Amino acid sequence: MTIKGFIFDLDGVLTDTAEYHFRGWKRLADEEGLPFTREDNEALRGVPRRESLLLILKGKTVSEEKLQEMMERKNQYYLEFIHEIKPSDLLPGALRFLEELRAAGLKAAIGSASKNAGEVIERLGIGSLLDAISDGHSVERQKPAPDLFLHAAAQLGLNPHDCVVVEDATVGIAAARAGGFRTIGLGPKERVGEADVVYPSLENVHLDQALRDLA
Ligand code: G6P
Ligand code: MG
Repeated sequence: MTIKGFIFDLDGVLTDTAEYHFRGWKRLADEEGLPFTREDNEALRGVPRRESLLLILKGKTVSEEKLQEMMERKNQYYLEFIHEIKPSDLLPGALRFLEELRAAGLKAAIGSASKNAGEVIERLGIGSLLDAISDGHSVERQKPAPDLFLHAAAQLGLNPHDCVVVEDATVGIAAARAGGFRTIGLGPKERVGEADVVYPSLENVHLDQALRDLA
């Protein structure tokens, strides 16, 4: 088995911005009188901004202008949350895992559908541990299409089958599998059970153990 690089989703994998996306959408939904629960939010993990809003609207039709305004409003709420992000907001194990990759000479990239990924990475202070960033600006077709992870692998100069994708979202695991990547799912089996290997989080996962589990 040759594994030469890891591609990480960002929100819900390296930091808990999945919670901030939820709070942003929840505030918008409350303002609009749209029923939206934490459980509903599970279906939004990894889903781009526009598709997320369409899921929240549950078939309710609104004008394009109103859609744009609501997406902008949610993004303003999200930006308020991420302005506060600092290196200590990395999830347990995330920094150590990135450092283990560096020490082992393996490549690391981000594959996040978020257009705000760059700002979050900068605030987390992990830029120097990453070789490439593919984000919401990088490709047209988002997850579950494999395009974003293929974009990241190409930036690393690696073939998909030499890379592992680390994801917390059902659509993210589907995207990685569609691209021919190996996969680590973080979270409950109901969400990421299609991954090759599933862990609750990166907290107790060391690189050597992950490579053994993937083999
Ligand atoms: C990631 C998150 C989603 C979010 C999407 C777009 O995939 O998991 O919750 O909707 O990025 O983020 P953005 O910051 O561009 O609205
Ligand atoms: Mg995610």
